Amino acid sequence: MADESPLIRSLRAAVAAAPDDVPLRLHFAELLLAEGRNDEAVSEAAVALQHAPGDAGARALMVRAMGLPPTPTAAPGATPAPSAQAPAPSAQAPAPAAPTQDAATDGPAVGRPATDGPAVDRPGFDWDAAEQQVQDLVGPRFLEDPQAAAGEGPAGDAAAWDVDAPGSVRLADVGGMEEVKDRLEAAFLAPMRNPELRRLYGKSLRGGLLLYGPPGCGKTFIARAVAGELGANFLTVSLSDVLDMWIGASEKNIHDIFETARRQAPCVVFLDELDALGAKRSRTHHSGLRNVVNQLLTELDGIASGAGNEGVFVLAATNVPWDVDIALRRPGRLDRTLLVLPPDATARESILRYHLRERPIEAVDLGKLVKATEDFSGADLAHVCETAAEAALLDSARSGSVRLISTKDLLGAAKQIKPSTEPWFAAARNVAMFANEGGLYDDLLAHLKRKRKL
Ligand SMILES: Nc1ncnc2c1ncn2[C@@H]1O[C@H](COP(=O)(O)OP(=O)(O)O)[C@@H](O)[C@H]1O
Ligand SMILES: [Mg+2]
Repeated sequence: MADESPLIRSLRAAVAAAPDDVPLRLHFAELLLAEGRNDEAVSEAAVALQHAPGDAGARALMVRAMGLPPTPTAAPGATPAPSAQAPAPSAQAPAPAAPTQDAATDGPAVGRPATDGPAVDRPGFDWDAAEQQVQDLVGPRFLEDPQAAAGEGPAGDAAAWDVDAPGSVRLADVGGMEEVKDRLEAAFLAPMRNPELRRLYGKSLRGGLLLYGPPGCGKTFIARAVAGELGANFLTVSLSDVLDMWIGASEKNIHDIFETARRQAPCVVFLDELDALGAKRSRTHHSGLRNVVNQLLTELDGIASGAGNEGVFVLAATNVPWDVDIALRRPGRLDRTLLVLPPDATARESILRYHLRERPIEAVDLGKLVKATEDFSGADLAHVCETAAEAALLDSARSGSVRLISTKDLLGAAKQIKPSTEPWFAAARNVAMFANEGGLYDDLLAHLKRKRKL
């Protein structure tokens, strides 16, 4: 989206700042449509309809956005065709009284395609009937929750909106995953809030906690939620960023990060994608990298000894714990682990709700979908929603009759997509069975046994 026009960019920002300004959103959708970005226009129209169910302009726009296959080459100034009935070649000439794009947001009269794309190949298409259809189609979004669906639940909506906004995610926004949340509460949040507790359990709370698990299952997301709870007292370090900088400066950067943490203690330092740095030193020919690992060891030991490090906690995350330098995992360093498994049912439901929030859906049976997506990662679930939307859009364009995304589309997509966590579990199984030194992977073993995968 880096190459989008300044107008679109600023309108996007304006819409984000005033999410329930329906005319503004429709104006934005018109622009997207004029650029051939139909599916984005559909999403915007869907949100507009949530805020203003029955809004004629929004419905008309939705019909146009869904009825036309994307026409990415259409210039914003492309002249609207006066009628879908017109044969394609002759319709190229601008008609004298062609409606302007802006007019399209104004009233129910507009039900015509805005651009002269390949859609004219379907001369029999009845736009007014389609509009009529959409009117009936905009029903409850979710089966079990018709109220929020009709746009009457701004509180519920707001919660869904904020899930991914940095800084505003709280642990309560993380659906399900109770065990993980409990461990984080005990390991970080309680001792940070309560210095008394910190003194009492000081020794046992030293060292860091390593989150590990298959990719896309919420490690980074959960860390952001911890940050949301702690506000300023949370430093995120993306190790690939640190390593991108000048060799030699990396060690200093690491030191500076921990210095900052000490100054604003109690403070959590979050080292994301630890494997990027902790890669087994024997494998790391890069001497610069070795120095960084050594620096990190020094900092962690400083924390362990308590010398001026009271109240500095380390949280780290990795998809490949077996590639993390074993020295980093010695007692007193990152010696506690926390397995972050694929989202449980409650988490899947909240993730699905989030990814469906701006899509035109109808009567979706979330319960069924949650059951059909066991072992799916958060990223897989996003993919399911996208695939289902594509299917519904294609279907609408093909048949010329507009329909919203249904449970069937979503279940079909779930069937088609294999959970991406499988290869991870295959690798993890070997490690847990044959390299579980010191019980590093006991959680993983227990999980595999529970799932009868051992
Ligand atoms: N329990 C959860 N609740 C809500 N969203 C989640 C949850 N778990 C994962 N997600 C979503 O899944 C996506 C991938 O998660 P991420 O934290 O990047 O995975 P990881 O760091 O483990 O590779 C994120 O966009 C996040 O919003
Ligand atoms: Mg991550």
